[in-house]
Amino acid sequence: MKSAFNKMLGATMILGASFFAQGALAQSANCSYSISNEWNTGATGAITITNTSTTAINGWTVGWQYATNRLSSSWNANVSGSNPYSATNLGWNGSISPGQSVSFGFQIDKRGGSAERPTITGSICGGATSSVATTSSSVPASSAPASSVPASSSSVAVSSARSSVASSVTTGQQCNWYGTLYPLCATTQSGWGYENNKSCISRATCTSQPAPYGVVGGASSAALSSSSVASSSSVASSLALSSSSIPSSSSTPSSVARSSSSVAVSSSSIASSSIASSVASSVNGVSLKALADFPIGVAVRAGSEADSILNSAQQKAVLVQHFDQITAENIMKMSYVHPSEATFSFANADALIEFARQNGASVHAHALIWHEDYQVPSFMKSYSGDFPAMLKTHVQTIASHFSGKVVSWDVVNEAIAENSDSSAVNGFRNSVFYQKMGVNFIDQAFIWADEADPVADLYYNDFNTETNDAKTTRLLALIDGMKTRGVPIDGVGFQMHVLPDWPSIANIEASFRAVAQRGLKVKITELDVRVNNKYNSSAPVYTSLTPAAAAAQSERYRQIVAAYLRAVPAAQRGGITVWGMWDAQSWFAKDPDWPLLFDNSFQPKPALQGFANGLTGQ
Ligand code: G3I
Repeated sequence: MKSAFNKMLGATMILGASFFAQGALAQSANCSYSISNEWNTGATGAITITNTSTTAINGWTVGWQYATNRLSSSWNANVSGSNPYSATNLGWNGSISPGQSVSFGFQIDKRGGSAERPTITGSICGGATSSVATTSSSVPASSAPASSVPASSSSVAVSSARSSVASSVTTGQQCNWYGTLYPLCATTQSGWGYENNKSCISRATCTSQPAPYGVVGGASSAALSSSSVASSSSVASSLALSSSSIPSSSSTPSSVARSSSSVAVSSSSIASSSIASSVASSVNGVSLKALADFPIGVAVRAGSEADSILNSAQQKAVLVQHFDQITAENIMKMSYVHPSEATFSFANADALIEFARQNGASVHAHALIWHEDYQVPSFMKSYSGDFPAMLKTHVQTIASHFSGKVVSWDVVNEAIAENSDSSAVNGFRNSVFYQKMGVNFIDQAFIWADEADPVADLYYNDFNTETNDAKTTRLLALIDGMKTRGVPIDGVGFQMHVLPDWPSIANIEASFRAVAQRGLKVKITELDVRVNNKYNSSAPVYTSLTPAAAAAQSERYRQIVAAYLRAVPAAQRGGITVWGMWDAQSWFAKDPDWPLLFDNSFQPKPALQGFANGLTGQ
């Protein structure tokens, strides 16, 4: 079980009748429970609260109870209790405007029964309560939705997604963009737009997608144009997103998610936007961290940096929803924590680590030794004393300070030379560390770090090592030598600042596999996927993130994540960290490029969907 649920349980809540008092009076909502995917032993789903009143809902609490099933994890709400359960909003999803929906997701253990669809209670649910079965016909017959709907619910099985859309959708339309919902632009005529402080997609661009994607919801969907049929099948594919906390071995095949032939809608009292809000609920319910049994990390800024996550509610919300590990993009580098020989400066890093702890994220620390000129403290560059002793003090003072607070370290970063490096020595970068200590500085750094922090995983980290070429060969020779010498290395970090078409997935996979076969952990430490390849004059040049570029990038993310899962055994997965949260934060933003998972409004890009699909094996 993911720890997120335990953390949520830790946020103790008061149960009882008075508990549901908030949000009563003039406010009313349709509270629905839906199953988005089901397999032999469990299921995933979402609870959606749709504000059917004319005033905003500010804060909500709902409750439900199973006969046999039990929750095994949840996301996007504070859930407490152990049947009955109750859930309250998080800081960022408590407010629901009239006509809008909020949803949170969960996974259940069926405990030998079928997937139940309990009634949702709570004074906020003054409108209708409902249960919605959205599993498809390829779910095993023993758990077919129609037969598993409790007799008490007024369910009506509708055998076609097409007719369920027609019968239920009357609210505004959205664009299902390769499985992620975006607002349709009101005024932008083509491409992507930015309206009402959000990214949006023009109708023309949205409808230019291949089936099954396109415009979903709204009155025109009910007209049952061919695109609305496509939309209904995309409902199923989107729904699959929230199901991937299912272990891949037991998950239903993607055909379940993609099938649209038999969507059962189990309540006649579903709000008019049921299908649209089901899509929205499952897409909004995606949580990358809930889909993986290994850390999903993000590089963040803090301290005196612009865009510190400590001052950004938006970043914090994205962090809490999707990531359970952070790396300081900069503030734990050498010059930040050890600016002069006698000065160690830990306050900013300590504050970030405490912030991570409070938000359910562990810390992968970066980096004890890095050659980069402007990150090597000036005093080290001109050091005339005992260099190894000085470096040992550096490593051990820092590693000791953070011992118990970080789970892993990039101990040495980028020591292997690039293939094109004419100043390389024996295949290594001719850094100040190499000049002073030869290649021995690498072994020593790991030995010192291990003495200071015997618990943290210790990684060698580098870029362009996922190429399966000469640099990868030098990497393998280095780690083979370290293992032979008994150096305490736990894993290899692949930075993975990749181009849209390079390295090939086959080479990436082979590189991961070669390290994994040596018994080491493999961690993707700095993932970003550019849409431009400025080194290839025949590659397309994007001056904005066009739909085609976004779709290709999404697919590239999917393939990389899938390759990681194929090549690295579960016990050796150190995790995947993306190098920044939103596009403008990327070190490639100025190129220009758009390499990350969220746009500049912190809205998920198709890339997020690709990442999620990679995790779920779709
Ligand atoms: O915060 C200061 C700001 O106060 C000042 O006005 C401004 C002026 O240049 O600089 C700001 O600091 C910059 C910092 O990023 C934060 O934006 C530094 O100059 C700039 O050098 C620094 O760049 C970082 C770079 O490492 C060098 O440390 C990038 O953000 C960071 O993404 C990049 O990360 C590296 C990994 O550590 C190792 N692998 C490669 C990766 C990309 O280069």
